[in-house]
Amino acid sequence: MSESMSLQIQGITVAYSYTIGDINTMLSEYLSEDMNLVVVVDENTDKHCLPKLDIPFSHLVIELPQGPEHKSLASCQYIWQQLAGQKYGRDSLFINVGGGQITDLGGFAASVYKRGCPFIHVPTTLLGAVDATIGGKTGIDFASIKNGIGVFSDPKAVLFDPSFLQTLQPEQVRDGKVEMLKHGLIHSEEHVQDVLSYDPATPPLGKVVLDSVNIKHHFVKGDMMDNGIRRCLNFGHTFGHAIESFFLAENNPISHGCAIAWGIQLELAYSSLHFNQSIEGTEYAMDFLRSAFPPIPHFAFEELMHHMRDDKKNRAQKILGVVLRRIADPHFDLEYEVGQIKKTWENVQRP
Ligand SMILES: NC(=O)c1ccc[n+]([C@@H]2O[C@H](COP(=O)([O-])OP(=O)(O)OC[C@H]3O[C@@H](n4cnc5c(N)ncnc54)[C@H](O)[C@@H]3O)[C@@H](O)[C@H]2O)c1
Ligand SMILES: [Zn+2]
Repeated sequence: MSESMSLQIQGITVAYSYTIGDINTMLSEYLSEDMNLVVVVDENTDKHCLPKLDIPFSHLVIELPQGPEHKSLASCQYIWQQLAGQKYGRDSLFINVGGGQITDLGGFAASVYKRGCPFIHVPTTLLGAVDATIGGKTGIDFASIKNGIGVFSDPKAVLFDPSFLQTLQPEQVRDGKVEMLKHGLIHSEEHVQDVLSYDPATPPLGKVVLDSVNIKHHFVKGDMMDNGIRRCLNFGHTFGHAIESFFLAENNPISHGCAIAWGIQLELAYSSLHFNQSIEGTEYAMDFLRSAFPPIPHFAFEELMHHMRDDKKNRAQKILGVVLRRIADPHFDLEYEVGQIKKTWENVQRP
């Protein structure tokens, strides 16, 4: 890719660029010989992505195991242990090369190490490129609570090279499409259609990704700390995070994208119940989610409620979520009623 595309993202404290292009051209603007560089990867990005990076200066590579169960304090501790007692001060620059797991975790580890080091995100999954690296949320899972510990913290830049996607498994591409579809459902019918017909193997790759980034930015920029409109991005995540946390607690973690694919189906069903009408125009999105993902799993309603109540999005013990009246018409901070949640869970479970 020779051309690069860029947009300015309004962060919590500073603005930073999100650029799509050739990774080495983009990175060269940020690196210099006198820096202490720390590159965080997981075992897959170490194998598939790190060899594409040409970092001409000495740098430390920290490799973590892949898998949702490793978005943990133990992984952070491992990073910090590699740095402690060495030359790595607050001026060290972290380069987080990976999917949302590595960018969330590496961003958090950098943000609190020596009270905060700068970091650059290099997303290598579709989900990382369109979602996890925008909006300043970093963190780890804790005590089976998804993202239970974390901080808001801006990267120095986000540098996305679409060629990284070539080594992803089809399921990982599918997971990224789920968050893109969510962006369309809450903001733009046209984007829903673009996402449904989007094949990452076929160029031009940049536009649909950049559209998704722009939609996420639209919701984030006026509400960095997640007190209002940003909460629309939680569509699919009230049921979705509860299901994800359930499987995490069972030591049988599932991917975030899969959990959200189920969450969106359930929250469209909840929205239908709430507004007493079908949610117009969402049929193709539902067809995609039903055909691309396994059926919604069956487990006890009490378990679902236990994890829903634990969600950090809640306030005053109320379960707060998003409903969709129609495409691009989300309503956030709606109190989800236990009776309606049960009805939704049981209806959708029925074969
Ligand atoms: N911060 C946010 O706002 C935000 C938003 C959405 C999701 N997230 C977080 O993102 C995480 C999920 O991210 P994800 O779906 O990218 O998962 P992931 O980072 O776990 O990556 C999925 C799998 O793909 C592998 N992989 C990554 N890049 C690869 C490549 N180029 N080639 C081959 N394999 C590769 C990884 O090793 C892993 O096995 C979750 O922890 C979720 O909570 C954060
Ligand atoms: Zn998500």
